[in-house]
Amino acid sequence: MTSRPNTARETPAPRIKPAPIFAVASGKGGVGKTWLTTTLACAWGRAGRRTLVVDCDLGLANIDVQLGVRPQADIHSVLRGWIDLDAAATPVLGGAGRGGGFDLIAGHSGSGALAAIKLEDVAKICDGVRTLAPHYDRILLDLSAGVDPSVQRFARGADALVLVITEEPTSLTDAYALVKLLKLNGGQLIPSVVVNMAESRMRGRKVFEQFAMACNEYLGFRPKLAGVISRDPRVPDAIRAQTPLPVRHPQAQAFEDVLRIAEALSEV
Ligand SMILES: Nc1ncnc2c1ncn2[C@@H]1O[C@H](COP(=O)(O)OP(=O)(O)O)[C@@H](O)[C@H]1O
Ligand SMILES: [Mg+2]
Repeated sequence: MTSRPNTARETPAPRIKPAPIFAVASGKGGVGKTWLTTTLACAWGRAGRRTLVVDCDLGLANIDVQLGVRPQADIHSVLRGWIDLDAAATPVLGGAGRGGGFDLIAGHSGSGALAAIKLEDVAKICDGVRTLAPHYDRILLDLSAGVDPSVQRFARGADALVLVITEEPTSLTDAYALVKLLKLNGGQLIPSVVVNMAESRMRGRKVFEQFAMACNEYLGFRPKLAGVISRDPRVPDAIRAQTPLPVRHPQAQAFEDVLRIAEALSEV
């Protein structure tokens, strides 16, 4: 039986234009996808955009842990048919459209991790997220590391691909492998690249150029630069405190960088 958890959330009224769905991917793990996803959601939430975050890293779902929230429901319960996808959303910082927060559909809430998700379940989640799009202004999918078919399926189910890279050579090779596979499998999205943990803006731009040149030469497209984010010790500090960066350190350089990226991505 499908039922709603006992929360006071109401399904928001449909918007005129459905929210674009952004997949945040990288190939390599530990480059800052999850942190960027939630910080972008904070930035859009503060700008009055109704934003939904979906934790699609179902094996190691950890958005709720980074944010210090306790979801009452999760995707696992949706796939089991216990609840509808919209009922699985947990409000973060007041929820979407209220005090400048956002909604989160968690990957797990202690009800069990989905290490090996079936592709048909990925398709089900993508379809479900699409039906929620008219109720939001922006939707972010936080993908897992790797290039496996489920990551590719989530990326194909999105309207825009945000590719997170760092200066580490393995990050570049893994990101390249992901975009190459997506292209080989018919993907049409031109990635918007975020260079994270950059030692300087100039170094970040150089890394982007290196990546863009490889894509241009061997894959026949040039990715866009969404922006560069500085390496900032206040990021790990906020994560350790399980508090969103703009709440713990409103003046952090990394948050200023994300604000700029939030604006750049609004034009995607
Ligand atoms: N701009 C940054 N400056 C410093 N550390 C960062 C930055 N972005 C991310 N990190 C660190 O990287 C770690 C991994 O981030 P996370 O978002 O979990 O990566 P992913 O989701 O790609 O695996 C975080 O614990 C955080 O401490
Ligand atoms: Mg992650």
